[in-house]
Amino acid sequence: MKPNIALIGPMGAGKTSVGRLLSVALNMGFFDVDKEIQVARGMSITEIFQKLGETYFRRLEHEVCLQIPQMQGFVISAGGGVILNPQNIPLIKSTCVIIFLSATATTLHARLADDITRPLLVDGDRLETIKNLLNQREPLYIQATDFTIKTDKKTPKQCFEEIIDIMSRHGCL
Ligand code: S3P
Repeated sequence: MKPNIALIGPMGAGKTSVGRLLSVALNMGFFDVDKEIQVARGMSITEIFQKLGETYFRRLEHEVCLQIPQMQGFVISAGGGVILNPQNIPLIKSTCVIIFLSATATTLHARLADDITRPLLVDGDRLETIKNLLNQREPLYIQATDFTIKTDKKTPKQCFEEIIDIMSRHGCL
């Protein structure tokens, strides 16, 4: 049995809120890859993107992923772009059951309407950007994941319950 659970999926899918519910219920730690990056660099994600660039951010993201094979007993929330670097996937797979939290572009757009913390959504038409990111990334999430949970019109608690159910039925808990 894998010792960790990793949540992947686009910005606004609910990785943090669902991940927190899972970690409390399963008595596991909560490990947020973005938070680790911010602490390591002493800067917000927005500042890192603005001052150091996305390529540098992706390198930091990969460095945090290098810790995952040594981890045990964590629910891991990975940033929406973690699947862009193919080297990250085996690192996550090595110790995690992977859950893809999916949502339509319309759902994500509504959930992120007031968000100012996502640098990729600052410029241009937000819905268009979200659609483009989904088109590019959805196949990568699907390829990487063990289970997919559709989150549209569901609360974090409902998503959490579905994850517990699907993992129990597959002997992952
Ligand atoms: C990103 C998602 C963000 C964060 C950064 C880039 C992405 O994480 O890593 O803004 O490329 O989709 P969340 O998915 O937790 O918002």
